[in-house]
Amino acid sequence: MERRSLAPYLSGWSVAVALRDPEALAADQRWRRALRFGVVAVSVSMIALGFMVSLRFIGRELDVARMKADFAASVSHELRSPITQIRLKGESLLLGLCDDREEEQAAYHAIVRESERLSRLVDNVLDFAAIERGAKRYTLRPGDLGASVRRALVSMEGSLEFKDITLQVELPDDLPAVFHDPDAVGQCVINLVSNAVKYSPEGERVEVVARQRRGTLRGVEQDLIEVAVTDHGIGIAPHDLRQIFEPFYRSRDSLARRRKGTGIGLTITRYIMDAHGGDIEVRSKPGHGSTFTLRFPLEPPDRKLRGGAPPSSTPG
Ligand SMILES: Nc1ncnc2c1ncn2[C@@H]1O[C@H](COP(=O)(O)OP(=O)(O)O)[C@@H](O)[C@H]1O
Ligand SMILES: [Mg+2]
Repeated sequence: MERRSLAPYLSGWSVAVALRDPEALAADQRWRRALRFGVVAVSVSMIALGFMVSLRFIGRELDVARMKADFAASVSHELRSPITQIRLKGESLLLGLCDDREEEQAAYHAIVRESERLSRLVDNVLDFAAIERGAKRYTLRPGDLGASVRRALVSMEGSLEFKDITLQVELPDDLPAVFHDPDAVGQCVINLVSNAVKYSPEGERVEVVARQRRGTLRGVEQDLIEVAVTDHGIGIAPHDLRQIFEPFYRSRDSLARRRKGTGIGLTITRYIMDAHGGDIEVRSKPGHGSTFTLRFPLEPPDRKLRGGAPPSSTPG
């Protein structure tokens, strides 16, 4: 910057500079201090916020890692227990250790029941892996949803008898055809009914009811077919309701923890319902029981596919 003296132009003059409003300078300084403080405070809060978000993220990752470890442990446990039962009962029959015909029959029943349990577990684990890879496809065709539900229930008779659970079924014969994949819908029903049985005391009642009604699905009012599975068991706490569909999530409630499980049944069920253009709803009251409702649209998920090749679907 160039500096010039005023002396040649204003000789004999002296110049005094006075502030008209001395408060203004003080106010300006205060404002600058406040601004500096504000900038520092915002930066510190941003750093703190970032730190908290990272901690939360790490916490969630650790939670998922812990749930995955629990999953691996529970799958091995759930595999081992039916395999042991099948081997024991098979050996008893082979070695003629059963005292009478009744005991023999009980052993055969146990083998069938435990193999069904084993095959349900393997189906769920394999399907879950395929879903994770994005490789799971369903073939939807118009068909009798009631018949698909009934077939699934028959395959569960052994488990119901074992816990002395009474199954009350209401499947009207006159339901309109629904676009669905019978095996996948069977898997949903099996997952819900095995939960209903697992989380109910012995001797309880489980209800499976199908009905047609109008309702709102994905924001659109339309005709729906619902399949509701109701139990009168331990129920689910409100804070768990939001999470039970997440992979590996199992309630931390001690009553629920007493039952073994893998935490993937409801995740698969929700995925299958998505693929059908439907959804799954849950209502529950701790200590009173739960109702899980599968809701199917009457119209095929993709109208364009009507009358053409059977739609293959994965959730979008
Ligand atoms: N009918 C039910 N009654 C009470 N709790 C249930 C019921 N169905 C599901 N849950 C809760 O939701 C969790 C997730 O269910 P699911 O995915 O089927 O896994 P799990 O293998 O544990 O049964 C269960 O661990 C349990 O806490
Ligand atoms: Mg389950």
